[in-house]
Amino acid sequence: MRTKIVAGNWKMNKTQQETETLAAELAAKLPDTGAEVIVAPTFVNLTTAVRSLENSVIQVAAQNMHFADSGAYTGEISADMLLDIDVDVVILGHSERRSHFGETDDMLAKKVNTALDKNMRIIFCFGEELEDRKSDNHFAVVESQLKNALFSLKAEAFKNIVLAYEPVWAIGTGETASPEQAQEMHAFIRKTMAAKYDAAVANNISILYGGSVKPANAKEIFSKPDVDGGLIGGAALNADDFIAIVRAI
Ligand code: G3P
Repeated sequence: MRTKIVAGNWKMNKTQQETETLAAELAAKLPDTGAEVIVAPTFVNLTTAVRSLENSVIQVAAQNMHFADSGAYTGEISADMLLDIDVDVVILGHSERRSHFGETDDMLAKKVNTALDKNMRIIFCFGEELEDRKSDNHFAVVESQLKNALFSLKAEAFKNIVLAYEPVWAIGTGETASPEQAQEMHAFIRKTMAAKYDAAVANNISILYGGSVKPANAKEIFSKPDVDGGLIGGAALNADDFIAIVRAI
């Protein structure tokens, strides 16, 4: 049975006080849906979130990390630094890291390997650009992103990996992929995982959808057989909206 997950990517938002307030509100309002719930504040607010959620089942994730253990990487954060503050879940490969900060599949492969070496759990993001979809190249792009960053791994590594398909054209745009589009791509991803590895890996890995998930569309998207939850951006910044999306799982 695959794990259902709703994760909130807070991106570059919330002060320390706002983090404490939102975390406390989520903890107080969280329904017991059986799904895993994860929030990913900015680096500077991780400790506040961990402390605010210490008596909650809500997990805390980082939005990124470097592949090196330490050294001359100004502005970066290592896996050990995250583990030192009790954060063992990390989002890697978000399209904003790829587009704004030039993260390549090779860099992401290194980050994935480091996170796995540290026994961290990874939410690995990938997804096509609008022009890829318009040129009917979206399946090839997604397969290439998976292959280049993940397919050197052994099958057992995937017990620590959650996949998050985020079509770039749906992120922050209000232009959500239709439930049918999400299901079609998720089924393709699962088939690709089965072909590379085996049915067990493919059937056991959680595949989240991200890209303008809102309370109004979450239920229909999450109802699709190969959609195991969502990676939520804007709607995660409001407690009632995020809780409504959790209720939809
Ligand atoms: O990582 C989740 C994010 O990219 C989706 O953002 O605002 O479209 O829900 P949003």
